[in-house]
Amino acid sequence: MSFNNKIIWITGASSGIGEALTYELNQQGAKLIISSRRKETLEQVKNNCSNPSDIHIVTLDLAKTDELPSKAEEAISHWGHVDYLFNNGGISQRSNAIDTNLDVIRTVMEINFFGSVALTKAVLPSMIERESGHIVITSSVMGKFGTRLRSSYAASKHALHGYFDSLRQEVYDKNIKISLVCPGFIKTNVTKNALEGDGSKHNKMGKGQEHGMPADEFARKLIPKINRGKEEIYIGGSEIWAVYLKRFFPRLLNKMLRKVKVT
Ligand SMILES: NC(=O)c1ccc[n+]([C@@H]2O[C@H](COP(=O)([O-])OP(=O)(O)OC[C@H]3O[C@@H](n4cnc5c(N)ncnc54)[C@H](OP(=O)(O)O)[C@@H]3O)[C@@H](O)[C@H]2O)c1
Repeated sequence: MSFNNKIIWITGASSGIGEALTYELNQQGAKLIISSRRKETLEQVKNNCSNPSDIHIVTLDLAKTDELPSKAEEAISHWGHVDYLFNNGGISQRSNAIDTNLDVIRTVMEINFFGSVALTKAVLPSMIERESGHIVITSSVMGKFGTRLRSSYAASKHALHGYFDSLRQEVYDKNIKISLVCPGFIKTNVTKNALEGDGSKHNKMGKGQEHGMPADEFARKLIPKINRGKEEIYIGGSEIWAVYLKRFFPRLLNKMLRKVKVT
């Protein structure tokens, strides 16, 4: 098993995709650092694992970028290094652009973009020194096109592509891989946790997520693709086709999206 004894740091591990990745990678023999804001929930995730002694918890808030270098020191020093950094933690948004306060847009950018970038910058020097490492970023199909109600979310995910596509070229010679993962609809609480225009919690399950792919199935599909070092990965249902429509028939996609009911 290729992840056996690999040291993997996963953010957003208290729920959804990150939680499912934690269970799957723990089963495959990886040593994990799991992170998010909620310590007690991370403890529960750790206790649900088949090998809890292979799990170390580092709590962090991705919006508090000043604190992330010391969190990275803590994570790196626990097992000695980090082979994989999964920048997975994130937050969504459900509001028309006109109704979305600027501070809400900044919060979404701060968590999804600056949080992942700050953590990467804190881990990267140790990967460069070892000439080995793999950075995985959970973007979204919203990193490839936009729809109504998700302007800030789509912006934050598009920004990740620009940043990490550039970084991939800079660190290629240092044997560091970058994989951008674009999930479609995955059955998690992402829509419930999304921010509305005034910053309040949306608290409703999205229709797409309700009927989406289970997170454990997503994790099982993702891991072999990461193992192969794929640079960009799309996993989900028929919504994935929109990525190809955007690439080859963008006007057609825009026309279709104008008619689709988005939640
Ligand atoms: N589910 C989907 O359909 C879908 C589709 C495309 C992309 N994605 C992306 O997948 C990733 C995981 O989302 P999910 O679907 O698993 O949703 P989720 O169940 O809501 O999980 C989000 C995770 O991010 C963490 N998080 C949120 N804000 C944070 C902050 N300020 N600091 C640290 N951690 C924070 C949460 O932990 P705490 O609350 O404990 O901090 C939680 O562990 C996100 O980047 C999301 O954009 C999801």
